[in-house]
Amino acid sequence: MGKKDANIVLGIDIGGSGIKGALVDVEAGELVEDRYRIPTPQPSKPKKVAKVVKQITDHFSWDGPVGATFPAILRDGVAYSAANVHKKWVGTDGRTLFEERTGLRFELINDADAAGIAEMTYGAGKGRKGTVLMLTLGTGIGSALFYDGVLVPNTELGHLIFKGSDAEHYAAESVRDDKDLSWKKWGKRVGRYLDHVEFLFSPDLIIIGGGVSKKHEKYFRYFDTEAQVVPAEMLNEAGIIGAALVAHRNG
Ligand code: BGC
Repeated sequence: MGKKDANIVLGIDIGGSGIKGALVDVEAGELVEDRYRIPTPQPSKPKKVAKVVKQITDHFSWDGPVGATFPAILRDGVAYSAANVHKKWVGTDGRTLFEERTGLRFELINDADAAGIAEMTYGAGKGRKGTVLMLTLGTGIGSALFYDGVLVPNTELGHLIFKGSDAEHYAAESVRDDKDLSWKKWGKRVGRYLDHVEFLFSPDLIIIGGGVSKKHEKYFRYFDTEAQVVPAEMLNEAGIIGAALVAHRNG
């Protein structure tokens, strides 16, 4: 590999509906070219997902390290939860599964943690000290908590019990869609959830990520937190970029 190529790492974002791969320039914090997406197999059992991951590494003819995100608690590559993916994932060593299927070295980290790492390194949280909380609003709610730039992994604040159920069943983006809520109604729900999280953690900055962060002007006005709330800067690419960066750092 040439000097320039040493900064290129394959990132893969494994979600409930799509599995997306892209080559990432980890120095610039940018995708080198467009993402390649394959729908997540349904049901999303581990072996089927691993097959798609292999299709992605093959698509890029990749033979270096890979950083992948997954929407669950992950410790040393093993999943400890499965809120929006097949329950068979609980207890599965995803990192070893992907390494054996592809013959490549993998890092596997929680999707919100990966997105948070990217925002703290290149985006909305760059250089920010104190307590920074990134929340991703999508099918579920993901969270990444930082203090002075250091991640506390696997925080799972989408599963705080709020209004009688998991908070993500009350305020995720998917709830807006499913219940056909207006931006105002949904924005107020998210605002109430943020108030609760603020009371518990006193963050200095809250970064809102997920696809819906693009439309922040439609609902941020319903928030009433003391903490500064900003949209993520890297939008849907943050997870891929953060995972690639972790694989690069540990490489
Ligand atoms: C999962 C988290 C994940 C979040 C966003 C939640 O349901 O438990 O691990 O980060 O969804 O995908």
